[in-house]
Amino acid sequence: MIIGVPKEIKNNENRVALTPAGAKELKKQGHTVYVQATAGNGSGFTDEEYKAAGAEILPDIASVYKIAEMIMKVKEPIESEYSLIKENQLLFTYFHFASYEPLTMAMIKNKSVCLAYETVEKADRSLPLLVPMSEVAGRMAVQKGANYLEKPLGGRGILLGGVPGVLPAKVVILGGGVVGTQAAWMAAGMGADVTILDLSLPRLRYLSDVMPANVRTMMSNEYNIRTLIKDADLVIGAVLIPGAKAPHLITRDMLKVMKKGSVLVDVAVDQGGCIETCKPTTHENPTFVIDDVVHYCVANMPGAVPYTSTLALTNATLPYAIQLANKGWQKACKENNELKLGLNVVKGDVVYKGVAEAFNLPYESVDKYLA
Ligand SMILES: NC(=O)c1ccc[n+]([C@@H]2O[C@H](COP(=O)([O-])OP(=O)(O)OC[C@H]3O[C@@H](n4cnc5c(N)ncnc54)[C@H](O)[C@@H]3O)[C@@H](O)[C@H]2O)c1
Repeated sequence: MIIGVPKEIKNNENRVALTPAGAKELKKQGHTVYVQATAGNGSGFTDEEYKAAGAEILPDIASVYKIAEMIMKVKEPIESEYSLIKENQLLFTYFHFASYEPLTMAMIKNKSVCLAYETVEKADRSLPLLVPMSEVAGRMAVQKGANYLEKPLGGRGILLGGVPGVLPAKVVILGGGVVGTQAAWMAAGMGADVTILDLSLPRLRYLSDVMPANVRTMMSNEYNIRTLIKDADLVIGAVLIPGAKAPHLITRDMLKVMKKGSVLVDVAVDQGGCIETCKPTTHENPTFVIDDVVHYCVANMPGAVPYTSTLALTNATLPYAIQLANKGWQKACKENNELKLGLNVVKGDVVYKGVAEAFNLPYESVDKYLA
């Protein structure tokens, strides 16, 4: 198969969909890989490294779309790319269709085959191509929180791990899923006093089994959250209710009881945020202060660490990309239900219920293409 990797052109996106190592794997399996010049620069991969791995470099984005049967990307195509996409071309990338109607309509119109990273789903309902970015964001949440607790950055001037003779900082984590677990590991490793809250008792049991002694678990409810945030130095928001807006677990009035210079990192901000006063910020301007509490609410945290994020993402996407390239999308999706669930728009039909419902569009079963 001919695979094309365009350079990401969305604002501030430095990741790339394939590493030189990935290009080499695809090449080994007999495929041809075209990479747009400088596509890997933002993540630290040079054109020379791609060439050495067996890929060919094309000078511009139009030539990549023109030649490729499968396009591998990170972010959804933006307006200037719509007209470059060809009928029957397979696009393997994040789409988040339900949040943007013009993108959905454009992909219906161009009759491409859109396989979305975010809806590839395992039998246990986990989302293998979202997990790596949650892992990055969870670990980064503690790094950022520790940073903003420093006095010159507006924090109360407390070191997360304390020192001998001085107590460590108190970290409260709302939600014990992927983000919350990774955040707990990092905060615990730095010596903080960590409490993690979740609604799921089995999840709390699991966390209680695997976490070190400086991580405690607590059932998530308003009473417990109100009690804990009075003493907290850093609060990390990491809840998710699939397919819904995050619930506001910390409301505006609750900020009043928090310590001056404490820090809130709301990782769930991309789903509306679980802290009422959080609104999305950017890496250029990541924080704001309300009631003397520092708020960090960057909606694309992994974007700040493109090297790690690219490797983490491509570790997860490459095995699927190889199946698609080896078998073609129809056979690959027929044989692997995880991939089949990734199909969202196929040759003009919306084949993912959530997308059809979001815009009141007719839904078609994808089975007619896989028969
Ligand atoms: N800002 C970013 O850059 C960024 C990056 C990656 C992920 N995220 C977001 O982080 C959030 C968490 O993602 P995840 O992968 O950890 O999800 P996850 O599904 O693995 O975990 C969510 C957890 O929240 C728990 N939960 C639900 N309601 C709760 C409540 N009321 N109180 C306490 N816990 C509750 C669930 O039981 C679950 O354990 C999502 O909104 C995701 O989109 C943001």
